[in-house]
Amino acid sequence: NNLDTLYRQVIMDHYKNPRNRGVIEDDSLTINMNNPTCGDRIQLTMKVENDIVTDAKFEGEGCSISMSSASMMTDAIKGRQVEEALKLATTFSDMMQGKDLDVEDDEDLGDIEALQGVCKFPARIKCATLAWKAMEKALHEEEK
Ligand code: FES
Ligand code: FES
Repeated sequence: NNLDTLYRQVIMDHYKNPRNRGVIEDDSLTINMNNPTCGDRIQLTMKVENDIVTDAKFEGEGCSISMSSASMMTDAIKGRQVEEALKLATTFSDMMQGKDLDVEDDEDLGDIEALQGVCKFPARIKCATLAWKAMEKALHEEEK
């Protein structure tokens, strides 16, 4: 249906024109993570200054879902406090589990609705979650 087509367009746009692709060089947080079921992998680098994620970039190889999700995730956490970014990861995982959250007003989360709409099966949900898990893990370690 139309909504499905729209969702696919949003995802393909992030896949073909990824936001924040690259590596932050200077003393940034770095984490590598892969999806063991397919081997797709992501490297995430983030810069945290005064408890704020001031920059986030990703590199990697993977399916359109995992790469577009990484693009959305890096966009969504930039400028947020570490705690807020972690909260966002929880919100994301709730959305992927099918919870209906009202996120339309949050422009960073608007695109994520496309992932929620398209990823209905566990394998795909894993694809979508890869970048978010990486972010959560790296920020939790930073907090310690
Ligand atoms: Fe096909 Fe990930 S997009 S399983
Ligand atoms: Fe590997 Fe999607 S098929 S992350």
